[in-house]
Amino acid sequence: MTLILGIESSCDETAAAVVQDGTDVISNIVASQDELHQEYGGVVPEIASRAHLERILPVIQQAILKANINLHEIDCIAVGNRPGLIGSLLVGVAAAKALAWSLGKPLVAVDHVLSHLWAPILSGNTPEYPALGVVVSGGHTSLLLLENPSTARCIGKTIDDAAGEAFDKAASILEMGWPGGRLIDEAAQHGTATHRLPRPRLKNNDADFSFSGLKTALLYGVRGNPKRENGKTVFPRVASSLSKQEKNDWSASFQEAVVDTILRGVKEAIMSHKINCIIAGGGVLANSRLRQHLLSLADQEQLQLHIPELSYCVDNAAMVAGLGWHLFSNSQFANLELTASPRGIAS
Ligand code: KG4
Ligand code: ZN
Repeated sequence: MTLILGIESSCDETAAAVVQDGTDVISNIVASQDELHQEYGGVVPEIASRAHLERILPVIQQAILKANINLHEIDCIAVGNRPGLIGSLLVGVAAAKALAWSLGKPLVAVDHVLSHLWAPILSGNTPEYPALGVVVSGGHTSLLLLENPSTARCIGKTIDDAAGEAFDKAASILEMGWPGGRLIDEAAQHGTATHRLPRPRLKNNDADFSFSGLKTALLYGVRGNPKRENGKTVFPRVASSLSKQEKNDWSASFQEAVVDTILRGVKEAIMSHKINCIIAGGGVLANSRLRQHLLSLADQEQLQLHIPELSYCVDNAAMVAGLGWHLFSNSQFANLELTASPRGIAS
């Protein structure tokens, strides 16, 4: 029996979890910072790192308490050290190193994007490799070829906004709140995709994504074509003039365009690579339409789709501890010189 303490602080969730043998989640604590960033309509890195600093030790303590164990019973500490906001990552890395040193326990360093692809395993899935990894979150939209859970090659990524970020910006254009992915998803369920929005396609590399043009198309569609007046950009309409039904229809149209764009990339990757299954993860996998479409694509292609349950889609430390167990089992240890990096396997 191996107990791993996972620590996650790459963006705006401070999280710690205790996981046994890579799959049994004994405790899983996530402190979200949504309320701190809400008024800015996006994550403010300086606020995020300060909040991590205040929360990291209580969150770790709570994970240990909930697991009903003594800190000394932990076999290894796993920390997400890349990619992410550097000030945020450093808080988790410093805490993990301090614990590893003071307890005399090994340390493993986990790539956050790859850890999203361990989330389905926590939900009882057993993928067969090589696999196509699909990570769709607030910070990433990446396609990876995985030889095993920790060996992968990125074959496609967004060249501008991530899909989750695009959902968040769409909700902000529609004046619906932040973070917006869930809100767009809910509104879309009461709407019809009546507006034709672009499905951006890149010429140079088919496997890459782009979402910023789609966001601009939504802005112009909702508010009309802007004019320059006295050096300012002026739109003919405001989003608050839209009825609830109109917002629902724009939400459905936007969601459909994002899902189609992701699906096209996944289809192309399936056609050009030999894989045994698809593994998907990340906050946007909570999206009902994306889940539905990925399931029917996998069905069509007669491929197994491994997808996390909703609670493991968004950032959490259980997935970090899970992939950490895999690294621990393969003796892929980090040392106390470990540092954080804004870049990882997919960036
Ligand atoms: O994985 P995650 O917690 O953070 C990163 O690693 O970036 O993903 C957060 C993102 C946010 O952009 C949020 O709007 C989006 O996931 N999200 C959704 C849904 N639930 C969360 N996007 C679309 N539909 C949802 N139901
Ligand atoms: Zn994430």
